[in-house]
Amino acid sequence: MKDLTGQLFGGNWTEKKLEILRKYLESYNIALKNQPFERVYIDAFAGTGYRQQRSHLYGNFAIFEEFKKDESEKFLKGSAKLALEVNPPFHKYIFIETDGEKIAELEKLKNEHPEKKIEIIQSDANEFIQSYCGKEDWANNRAVLFLDPFATEVEWLSIEAVAKTKCIDVWILFPLMAVNRLLAKDPQKVFSERLNSIFGTDEWFERFYNTRTLNDIFGKSEEIVFKACNYQGIAQFYNERLKAIFSGVAEKTKVFYNSRQSPLFQLFFAAGNPKGAPIAIRIAEHLLRSI
Ligand SMILES: C[S@@+](CC[C@H](N)C(=O)[O-])C[C@H]1O[C@@H](n2cnc3c(N)ncnc32)[C@H](O)[C@@H]1O
Repeated sequence: MKDLTGQLFGGNWTEKKLEILRKYLESYNIALKNQPFERVYIDAFAGTGYRQQRSHLYGNFAIFEEFKKDESEKFLKGSAKLALEVNPPFHKYIFIETDGEKIAELEKLKNEHPEKKIEIIQSDANEFIQSYCGKEDWANNRAVLFLDPFATEVEWLSIEAVAKTKCIDVWILFPLMAVNRLLAKDPQKVFSERLNSIFGTDEWFERFYNTRTLNDIFGKSEEIVFKACNYQGIAQFYNERLKAIFSGVAEKTKVFYNSRQSPLFQLFFAAGNPKGAPIAIRIAEHLLRSI
């Protein structure tokens, strides 16, 4: 089902994800409000600014008008809209999206906030980030980047470009279930290129696959390669990759599960600026623990 004013995705965990983001943006702007930097919010997978919530999620309360209104207003906002409402505000907002129809919705959102400096960019997020990070004036700017893809779109090259600025804090929704599927049980069927692009290395193979020698009764031996990793191991590897390039990485993360209790995504936080990292990590870990 598609609706131009919003999009259907996520479950209850979507609210948690957005609440963590919203609270972080608020704390970030409070913490930096007396600093001379221009604060930028970058939403690299921006969507439309709104989400369409299945009505049964607030069904029982829908008979009361006031509940209906509260629930719908609370649940319908997507990351872009929430970021625009954060107080104190950012100096600039950059919304990136590939889909033309969603871009049109973002333009409407921009018109709803004429007082705000908003750039809407129709582009692949990776392309934009890699070029923007190298061009922006990082002596005078600080940014928070939200990477909220549907699946495995985020390239390690983008993460590296972000870390290199030393001025961007980033929230990454890592597609745990999708990556686990790319790591096929049959080593012949592993999606190596995509995994290299996500992890920025091919070391995942050594980490996630083991070799065993099987001897048959005729004395012939055969090397068997088999998958030897779980969700925790995948997340641990990604965390180590982040730690190698960022000033700080939150040890605490949040796993989001689907209705069958299988891990879908894991939310990571990394801080870019060496001076700001300790406080940024403290705030992020508090939010990851308490929401
Ligand atoms: C999970 S949704 C984002 C939801 C949004 N953060 C929110 O809270 O409303 C992912 C979005 O990324 C867009 N998208 C997919 N691939 C992209 C890419 N390579 N670059 C930029 N946007 C992309 C999709 O069209 C979709 O709107």
